[in-house]
Amino acid sequence: MESSAGPRRLAVLGHPVGHSRSPAMQTAALEALGLAGEWSYEAIDVAPDGFGDLVLSLPAAGFAGANVTVPHKGAALAVADELSEVAREIGAANTLAFEDGVVHAYNTDAAGLLAALPESPRERRALVLGAGGAARAVVWALLREGAEVEVWNRTALRSRNLCDELGGAAVEDPDAAAYDLILNTTAVGLAGEDAFAELPLARGDLREGQVLVDLVYGDSPSTLLAAAAEAGAETVDGIEVLVQQGAESLRLWTGREPPIEAMREAARRG
Ligand code: ATR
Repeated sequence: MESSAGPRRLAVLGHPVGHSRSPAMQTAALEALGLAGEWSYEAIDVAPDGFGDLVLSLPAAGFAGANVTVPHKGAALAVADELSEVAREIGAANTLAFEDGVVHAYNTDAAGLLAALPESPRERRALVLGAGGAARAVVWALLREGAEVEVWNRTALRSRNLCDELGGAAVEDPDAAAYDLILNTTAVGLAGEDAFAELPLARGDLREGQVLVDLVYGDSPSTLLAAAAEAGAETVDGIEVLVQQGAESLRLWTGREPPIEAMREAARRG
């Protein structure tokens, strides 16, 4: 982008998008970098049938890029001219960048997850719960990093299909205590469901030495993370993953080192 292009706008595109913490987090990041005068970040609610046209109109409206969230991560691939290898393999993009009339699509969810983990999952046994869009980035990232990945899903056909495509092994009755890492990518917990009733886990399976990741986030720790912390496991919540994927997106757009602490603080404030 040329500096004569004026303010560089950024946005998160979703439906709904009002709950997103990305505007607060990315605005705090731009302020911390001293870029808030030139750059801005907003939320745009767009329904699926208007997504493609909206994206194509953004460069002319002064946008340098966008984050893409539910339900548009697949559509973001379809509208892009150039796909990163990661976005293509995962089959979803959460970041778009507009440059000289070209729409580039990236996926920073995978790198964001790895950055959020307390240590490399290399040669660790990982159990991924869920087989939706969020699970795809998680499975891809863990396999890429050299973890041994097993995938459980309520609907077993979906986990089998995911593993056929990306790798890893589908499991129907996992012994959760045996894993070094357990990652919840399902929607369980979002509406207050009891994770121990809906997922193949018991409180007694959680232990010291394990890492529990729950992509669900709210104002307080999920039931799953609270139980994991009580059992002495390490925990990573969805906000930390959000911060790390947002940091990777910011790096792509601005080329600057992301101010992680300012982003974390703003994302946690909500
Ligand atoms: P996302 O893109 O966020 O992953 P998704 O593709 O709708 O969203 O996937 C939601 C995931 O949550 C799926 O793995 C879904 O399981 P099914 O494939 O069986 O539908 C899982 N999920 C949602 N509600 C669940 C519940 N009550 N118990 C177990 N899994 C649930």
